[in-house]
Amino acid sequence: MITIRSWLFVPGDSERKLEKGRRNAADALILDLEDAVSDNRQSIARDLVRNFLQANSDRSSQKLWVRINPLDHQFSLEDLATVLQGRPDGIVLPKVHSSTEVNRLADFLTILEAREGINVGETRILSVATETAASLLTFHTYLENITERLVAMTWGAEDLAVALGATDNRNPITGEYDDAFLLAKSQCLATARAINAQPVGVVWLNFRDLNGLKNDCIRDRRAGFLGKIAIHPDQSVIINETFTPSGEELAYAQRVIEIFEQYPGLGTVSLDGKMLDMPHLKQAQNTIKLASQIKGRK
Ligand code: COA
Ligand code: MG
Repeated sequence: MITIRSWLFVPGDSERKLEKGRRNAADALILDLEDAVSDNRQSIARDLVRNFLQANSDRSSQKLWVRINPLDHQFSLEDLATVLQGRPDGIVLPKVHSSTEVNRLADFLTILEAREGINVGETRILSVATETAASLLTFHTYLENITERLVAMTWGAEDLAVALGATDNRNPITGEYDDAFLLAKSQCLATARAINAQPVGVVWLNFRDLNGLKNDCIRDRRAGFLGKIAIHPDQSVIINETFTPSGEELAYAQRVIEIFEQYPGLGTVSLDGKMLDMPHLKQAQNTIKLASQIKGRK
């Protein structure tokens, strides 16, 4: 598992935003060649993204990923062939129907890595796993045969709404996502966990509402997501904070682990008047592991 907390989308045709992104706290940038770029600026964006990747080969404090066009779109292969020259850390694949396209992308990457002298397998994949109607019915295909390059999965509610013929994706009274979108979210989470990939939370579109973002991050983290997509530079710090275990959480996890160590052989113990058993011990161990993975990245 890779544990990138914040993934900031940057339109690939904007030099100003690319530079701004590079100075941002985001753990990774997603240089976008898809929806943020209009068709007539596609080749400008490709060249800009390749040059940006080449000029920023040190990825120790921030990874550089690229979102290409969907594989069934005429632009996708040229997107890939161009940006691989800059050795991106990974490719974000949108509008996926099933694992078939993720595996196909993996094969393309193998060829391009050979061309560029990159170690085979080095380029990772994040799939945007819920943007088509079919995608809601094909999650099981990821469990059958999936490339090891697929290290992260996220979901989307905007394109999915279009695909389903929905006029909106949220209940206008409660503001909650409607059923189909919650299904997409839960399937994405479960599938990612089942294949040991990182589940990544969906964008918070109202980028001026930082309080709303914070609450959404807390909710995602509680559900099991390990990071979140950002669309505005102001969002990264909040995402980083929320997806890093706090001192308080670490101290509690440590106490849970210690109490089990005190009573070896016991499957159930009590702490602060609460019953703890194996799932609580595993959660505590996961919290410590997550914190060390995040620290290890820096
Ligand atoms: N990455 C890097 N820099 C960004 C940025 C981003 N995603 N979004 C905004 N900025 C920069 C702006 O250029 C501006 O910089 P400046 O002060 O040097 O001019 C600064 O941050 C403040 O931006 P702000 O004025 O608050 O927002 P905006 O109105 O310029 O832009 C959006 C709003 C939504 C258009 C912009 O945030 C954006 O392009 N987001 C990414 C969209 C995207 O990639 N979508 C596809 C995936 S869903
Ligand atoms: Mg486009």
